[in-house]
Amino acid sequence: MAGDSLSVTDNRTGRTYEIPIADGAIRAIELRQIRVDDEDFGLMSYDPAFLNTAAVRSAITFIDGQRGILRYQGYPIEQLAEQSTYLETAYLLLFGELPAREELDGWVDEITHHTFVHENVKRLMEAFRYDAHPMGMLISAVASLSTFYPEAVLVDEPDNRLLQAKRMIAKVPTLAAWAYRHSRGLPYVYPDNDLGFTGNFLSMMFRMAEPRYTPDPVLERALEVLFVLHADHEQNCSANAMRSIGSSRVDPYSALAGAAAALYGPLHGGANEEVLKMLAEIGDVRNVPAYVERVKAGELRLMGFGHRVYKNYDPRARIIKETADAVFDVTGRNPLLDVAFELEKIALEDEYFVSRKLYPNVDFYSGLIYQALGLPVAMFPVMFAIPRTAGWLAQWLEGVDDPEQKIARPRQLYIGPDERDYVPVEKRTAGDLVAV
Ligand code: CMC
Repeated sequence: MAGDSLSVTDNRTGRTYEIPIADGAIRAIELRQIRVDDEDFGLMSYDPAFLNTAAVRSAITFIDGQRGILRYQGYPIEQLAEQSTYLETAYLLLFGELPAREELDGWVDEITHHTFVHENVKRLMEAFRYDAHPMGMLISAVASLSTFYPEAVLVDEPDNRLLQAKRMIAKVPTLAAWAYRHSRGLPYVYPDNDLGFTGNFLSMMFRMAEPRYTPDPVLERALEVLFVLHADHEQNCSANAMRSIGSSRVDPYSALAGAAAALYGPLHGGANEEVLKMLAEIGDVRNVPAYVERVKAGELRLMGFGHRVYKNYDPRARIIKETADAVFDVTGRNPLLDVAFELEKIALEDEYFVSRKLYPNVDFYSGLIYQALGLPVAMFPVMFAIPRTAGWLAQWLEGVDDPEQKIARPRQLYIGPDERDYVPVEKRTAGDLVAV
């Protein structure tokens, strides 16, 4: 075999195999031919948490974690954050190209006219306790949408897929805002289709008795930037969940509810909530050194720091830091900002963080902005889920149309007991509890 291959010698048998290399990868299935005898299943690769396994070929998002680069369909995130809008970016992620003027206008118009949800969704919201976490409400409400749109199961029909995608991009902000209104005991605000995507969201969140809510243009734009930055991030935990659940050909509402559930965890989109709790716990810049010592002692993690892929400053964190200044000019400075600055300064100089390449990630500053907007910390992961909806859908659409994909089904290395006979309960002796 020519240059682009890997020669592997199995020292158990002395046999050598030639495995092709394409795009810097070997196909794991090629390892299966490596067997000691005919009974042998064949060699597998073991990769807990997918540390070195590419499961998809994707054209959506590019990340170079060493150099701190993020691009959607080739466009640098810095340019999109400065010049694009969330809906234009969503179009780019889903269709692969920036829209021409008439395409963009048509797209915005369609999304705007899908923002309303069935009235029964209100009753669903009302069923939650007053202190229900809004992310739990959002996940449930998204899942419930599959029951309002039963045709969504027809995932093999491209037009139908696209219709559901538009519905989700349009309706998730409505569900998110209603989850917030429920937790405040406030009446739900219907979408205002004369406002832009983020302006309408602010209206559904904060409108009170005024006949028409006028969003502050600075806050509206800041939200656009945050939404652009959060729109996609290639094969992260929740995108992987979206693709994996979608690979069973289930409807996209159910898959998206699963993806949102993955995002909810404190190591993923729940981290921005944890950052604010951490900053509040530290409380004062004078307490920062002692807190950093506790982190270094392994007692706790510095939330909003570190990333599986970025081993450099997360480019999104840099832009969010700049956006924060514009927001604070309108809302007033968040007093916890000084604690965050001090924490970043100390961490970036400390050998523990430097040697492990731990830098601020997207979640480190976003929560401070959300708090300045008047949002409770429980809403932070929801604020992440709204824009990530576009990314999940782009990943899902690419996945369901990929002829190489099948139902996601990893292998395992079985480490349990060998075959043994069933013992009737009367003949068993009590032992130590074993976790199952
Ligand atoms: N604080 C202190 N130490 C850390 C941190 C942190 N935030 N993150 C990693 N480390 C240490 C870790 O203890 C380990 O040290 P050692 O080699 O001595 O055992 C080393 O750095 C490598 O850590 P890891 O757990 O192997 O890294 P990972 O790639 O599995 O984890 C991560 C990535 C994001 C889960 C992790 O950095 C973390 O828990 N960060 C805090 C949570 C957070 O901010 N998450 C948001 C991620 S960005 C947005 C998103 O994806 O949703």
